[in-house]
Parts: sequence; structure tokens; C-alpha cells
Amino acid sequence: MLLERQPQLQQMDALLADAIGGRGRIVVVLGEAGAGKTALVEAFASRLDDGLTMLRSACEDLSIPDPLGPLHDLARDAHWELPRVLDDRQVQRLPLFSEALDVFEAKGPCLLVIEDLHWADDATLDFVRFLGRRIANTHILLLITARTDRSEGQMRVRRALGEIPAGNVVRIDVPLLSESAVLSLAATAERDGEAIYRASAGNAFFVTELLAA
Ligand SMILES: Nc1ncnc2c1ncn2[C@@H]1O[C@H](COP(=O)(O)OP(=O)(O)OP(=O)(O)O)[C@@H](O)[C@H]1O
Ligand SMILES: [Mg+2]
Repeated sequence: MLLERQPQLQQMDALLADAIGGRGRIVVVLGEAGAGKTALVEAFASRLDDGLTMLRSACEDLSIPDPLGPLHDLARDAHWELPRVLDDRQVQRLPLFSEALDVFEAKGPCLLVIEDLHWADDATLDFVRFLGRRIANTHILLLITARTDRSEGQMRVRRALGEIPAGNVVRIDVPLLSESAVLSLAATAERDGEAIYRASAGNAFFVTELLAA
């Protein structure tokens, strides 16, 4: 069960209602590793009407990320055939991004998910910037997750989002679970919650690790 995320879910519901009404936005779900970004997105997705289009994608933790990996995922979900080679020299990016926008907008109200943007390649960040500048007049809600650490990836995310008009981006923070939430999760798992909370020293990743151990 998802604990302590009611305000975030309500905010996301309101932003989705705006998108359905033709005022699209990017929502950036930010939190440290293991804070519960994916769990929040899953919980939100599970509340959606069957009629709403949802296209999902993720960035991967590769030493050299494939260009536009998430766009491949989104295209597959949208049954849209991307040009086979997305190499710099063979395919111009702007017409491709523009076509992507048309394909997604043609779906009617649409939720796009890009997980783990801190692992994105440069072209994917360009795509997010491209969408971000044009999203206001669409029926698209683009939900992004990213870690808040001091990594280079996080800095690149911040820089890319900083170039999008401020009104088009909403930040939703995923804070650490409270002690009582950790105790309750531990009780359900029949574990010593006090010990887990103490050992995690306020680090969400360690709560997850310790509960799973
Ligand atoms: N609000 C919550 N209530 C109960 N359990 C939660 C909550 N948030 C997250 N969890 C659990 O904690 C674990 C880690 O959550 P999740 O994978 O969503 O983290 P994350 O922020 O996406 O991490 P990462 O940065 O590694 O992708 C999962 O097992 C998830 O079910
Ligand atoms: Mg995650």
C-alpha cells in the first residue's frame, strides 16, 4: 500500500485534468534513490480511466546510453514506426520531434511517462526541451521521474528543465517516508521497524534495502 502520498496524487490528478482540458504540462517527480518515485507513478497510473492513452518509457543506466531510447519505448506503445536509424547524420531531429508531438497529440488526452531522466542521453533531453516549449497547447501530461542527488545526470536534467518556460513545468517532491510509515511497513513485513529506521539514518535507499533483506 502507498503511504503518505495523498497530496502528490491529488496534485497529479489536477494537472491531468488540466491536460485533458487542453493545458498540457511536464510534471517532474523528484526524490532520492528509493524514495518512491516509481511507486507514485504506478499508483497514479492505476487510478486512470481506461479510455486515457498512457505511453511509457524509461532511461537506462548504460555507460553510453542509446540515443533516444525513451522515444523508442513511447513509439512502440503508440504503434508508431520510428525511422530505423536515429543517427545524427541520417535523421534530422527537429522533424522527428515534431512528428512525435503530432502522433502523441493525435491520441487525444495522453499521459507520457519517462522514468529516470538522470540517465538520459543528450538527444532525449533535447526531446524533453522540445516538448516542454510546446506542451502548453496540447492535451499531453508528460510525467518524468528523476533522482535528486549531486550526480552529473541530475545536473543535466536540471539544466534541461531550466530552459523550459516555468509555467510548463511542475515539480513534485517525493519526500522520505516518516518514521511511523517505516514502522508500519516493517510491521507488515514482520520486521523490527525501529532498527530499520535507525539503521537507514534517514536514507530512503537503505530503508528499501533493509526491508527487502
Ligand atoms: N509511499 C510508499 N508507501 C509504501 N511503500 C513505498 C512507498 N514509496 C515507495 N515504496 C516502496 O519502496 C520501494 C522503492 O520505491 P521506488 O522503486 O518507487 O523508488 P524510486 O524513487 O523509484 O527509486 P529509484 O530512484 O531507484 O528508481 C518499493 O518497494 C516501493 O514499493
Ligand atoms: Mg524508480
